[in-house]
Amino acid sequence: MTSLAVTHHDGIAIVMIDLVGEPVNKVTAELRADFSEVFAQLERDSAVHGVVLASGKADTWIAGADIDEFLTMKNAEEAEGLSREGQRLLERLEALRFPVVAAIHGACLGGGLETALACRYRIASDHPRTILALPEVQLGLIPGAGGTQRLPRLIGLQRALDLILTGRNVRAKAACQMGLVHELVHPAILLEVALDRARKLADGTIKPAHSPQGRGAAGVLLEDNPVGRSIVFRKARDGVLAKTHGHYPAPLAAIGAVRAGFETGSDVGYREEARAFGAMAASEVAKQLIFLFFATTALKKDPGVSAPAPAPTSVETLGVLGAGFMGAGIASVAVQQGTPVRLKDTDTPRVGRGIAAVSDVLKARLKKKQITRQQYADQLLLAGGTTTYAGFAHASLVIEAVFEDLALKQRVLREVEPLLRADAVYASNTSTIPIARIAEAAQRPNRVLGMHFFSPVHKMPLLEVIVTPATDRDATVSAVAFGKKLGKTVIVVNDAPGFYTTRTLSAYMNEAGRLLDEGAAIDAVDAALVAFGFPVGPITLLDEVGIDVGGKVGTVLFDAFGERMAPSDSLRRVVESGRTGRKGRGGFYLYDEMGRKGEVDSTVYNVLAYGAQRRDVPAEEIRQRCTLAMVNEAARCLEEGVLRTPRDGDVGAVFGIGFPPFLGGPFRYVDTVGATEVVRRLGALNERFPGRFEPAALLVGRAGSDQRFYPASGNPLP
Ligand code: COA
Repeated sequence: MTSLAVTHHDGIAIVMIDLVGEPVNKVTAELRADFSEVFAQLERDSAVHGVVLASGKADTWIAGADIDEFLTMKNAEEAEGLSREGQRLLERLEALRFPVVAAIHGACLGGGLETALACRYRIASDHPRTILALPEVQLGLIPGAGGTQRLPRLIGLQRALDLILTGRNVRAKAACQMGLVHELVHPAILLEVALDRARKLADGTIKPAHSPQGRGAAGVLLEDNPVGRSIVFRKARDGVLAKTHGHYPAPLAAIGAVRAGFETGSDVGYREEARAFGAMAASEVAKQLIFLFFATTALKKDPGVSAPAPAPTSVETLGVLGAGFMGAGIASVAVQQGTPVRLKDTDTPRVGRGIAAVSDVLKARLKKKQITRQQYADQLLLAGGTTTYAGFAHASLVIEAVFEDLALKQRVLREVEPLLRADAVYASNTSTIPIARIAEAAQRPNRVLGMHFFSPVHKMPLLEVIVTPATDRDATVSAVAFGKKLGKTVIVVNDAPGFYTTRTLSAYMNEAGRLLDEGAAIDAVDAALVAFGFPVGPITLLDEVGIDVGGKVGTVLFDAFGERMAPSDSLRRVVESGRTGRKGRGGFYLYDEMGRKGEVDSTVYNVLAYGAQRRDVPAEEIRQRCTLAMVNEAARCLEEGVLRTPRDGDVGAVFGIGFPPFLGGPFRYVDTVGATEVVRRLGALNERFPGRFEPAALLVGRAGSDQRFYPASGNPLP
């Protein structure tokens, strides 16, 4: 037995889980076998009156089922069998003759939380690393070891559905408030308290409550009768469908399993849970979401350059040039990680607004109880404003986030560079302008790179680091390491106009614009792409990012790539009309004083070439044209070496520009549809719109043989 160590303490056994050679504890076949054997031994040992289940890992209790094992499942039946096995094991744990206390410190996720739920008592350490969740739906799965049955009975139906359907993390304090754990203690005394509680449970001094606590009168009324419950289930289903547009089957399957347990008893509930788990594990959606988990995990370990990678320089002070929306956003995430920031702009009111914007982000976290008052005060103190370059001489990283204009960016670089350390990294937060052009103004172009953050910085998970042939490898590694420290998923791309994300997004947005040129209705274009799985439609997105910004980006890419990237006539006309989108309360849609989006602004049609009378364009045509333009451009980026790997292209598209996660990303999409078919569709479009859909050579090379970007089965990133 290698994963469990048992020690005895006056009648109470501590079972310590510590998977040898693994960074986290996960429910592997070996751990299941070890559990089985240990339970059997303890059950036989009459000297044992209670058990404490603890983890030997620093930051995880149990991180869930072994996701690698899912990849070996051949079909739904096999996955269903795995779920039944997990259910039976935890039923045995629950039925042991003595109490089992879960002493939880660190991540307690998925099968880990399901294990804890089968214990009689749960104590959590009051520590930021202690998080509890059932994240299975995020992998396209449902809890498969009793979670859909035990959780609602423990914390109430509505709260359980919220956790199961979102997969969101619950911190220890909130877990205690909702009755998910019985007690919170300081991590230093976790084991001691757990031993004490096991003893008291064994001798009957304490008895945990059996019905959900703290649901409030409305909760009890709704949940404790069949009519109320059916309302809850219907609302949950409607909520899921509104969010997922039917693309994600797992949340609906989870509702089905919870419901079966309530309506027909636990036996049926458990059976339905296992059946649905099997069906989900075999689904295409789960494969794509699991791929994204592996891809983002692999990126956590990727230094951004080929081996052997130089060591990164840690950023003791960050200089940010430009206290606007992006600059302040970058500062707000840096101070949260304890990095002091010097935020520079040309005048005091601008700096003041920047600091206020940092404070707003932190205040929102405070309001949501994600940080304490003390943390809020400490973090805000790390953001210092300046109208001079005071403090920049110490900064090992400077991020420029001034207006998107080459001459301005070059001027700022010229001005600040002589004041910086010779080894400082200078990053431009541009979304389009080639870094090499900006670096033309530098004395040390080898220290210049791009750090393309997405807006709003504190919410968007991706960072695109852009390097030129001149960029030093240690500069790249340092920028990547800092991005990871800020909690971002980082891809490194080679310099080119629009890099990867802006370029592929522009190809897609341009096509949407051309559909408007041809008379498609604004809302029809948006609706077709939302139905495809994008979070918002391309025209809404244009209003969001700013029509003026879109216009500028379009010009840069047109200059670089010619006719293929020619901006649509519609976009050009709307830019000229002075409409800027939501920020200017006037774009393709109407906005109220609060900035909330309303209907299409029908007067905008008068600006467009086709006029106010729109024609019906089939949704399928809209989808194909826009998405294939994006996919084809992504393939060109790989072909030209802008992208290092298809993995980076998929992660970048999903986390940066909203490509539907259930499709895995553009390269996964090509694998699913088949390169032959993609090239055929592109060819057909290219006949209708010559030059715009010329299939990328990389795709043409794969057509015929349907050569894939990823292996067809097993680990997608071997
Ligand atoms: N199954 C298989 N491998 C897992 C795993 C799981 N449930 N959880 C973590 N790992 C692996 C990672 O793949 C990574 O492997 P590698 O070192 O070979 O690349 C390693 O453990 C460390 O994970 P990482 O994510 O880099 O560490 P972290 O400290 O940043 O985060 C967790 C730790 C547990 C919070 C995070 O890994 C996580 O969210 N895991 C998935 C949890 C989950 O979805 N569980 C439900 C499964 S149904």
